[in-house]
Amino acid sequence: MAFEFDWKKNASKIEELKKVINEKKKLEGSLMPILHEGQEIFGYLPIEVQKIISEELNVPLAEIYGVVTFYSQFSLIPKGQYTIGVCLGTACYVKGSQEIIDEIKEELSIEVGGTTKDRKFSLVATRCIGACGLAPVMTINEDVYGRLKAEDVKDILRKY
Ligand code: FES
Repeated sequence: MAFEFDWKKNASKIEELKKVINEKKKLEGSLMPILHEGQEIFGYLPIEVQKIISEELNVPLAEIYGVVTFYSQFSLIPKGQYTIGVCLGTACYVKGSQEIIDEIKEELSIEVGGTTKDRKFSLVATRCIGACGLAPVMTINEDVYGRLKAEDVKDILRKY
């Protein structure tokens, strides 16, 4: 799902970003700290923000895009209020975490790595979170749900 970038609403954030870029651009290796600040300011790094950084730093957009998509701490889309993480580690996978993911995708009409239109939920697949005894495991922000069945998903999501 595509989220439109609102230039008007983001005007003061863009100013803030440009200030940060100006302060940092003379320092060596300034791209990563600037991207971090950009992610902080906007909550994500849409292509419009990457273009600003590209122009101000004189770094090709493709290079910036490459960095943003390489590191998982950066996001191209806004994060939802709740992040649902479904473990795809071996123990969870064997116990059916793919079915849990499929159920969430269907229930919320999102893809893995996506955010719902109302920005309430984001869905991510995670590696083992060290709770294999509870496989398959799903987290929603700080809450952990274990020994899940696909049919439990609907009721759990309703709580949020
Ligand atoms: S494999 Fe899922 S918690 Fe370990």
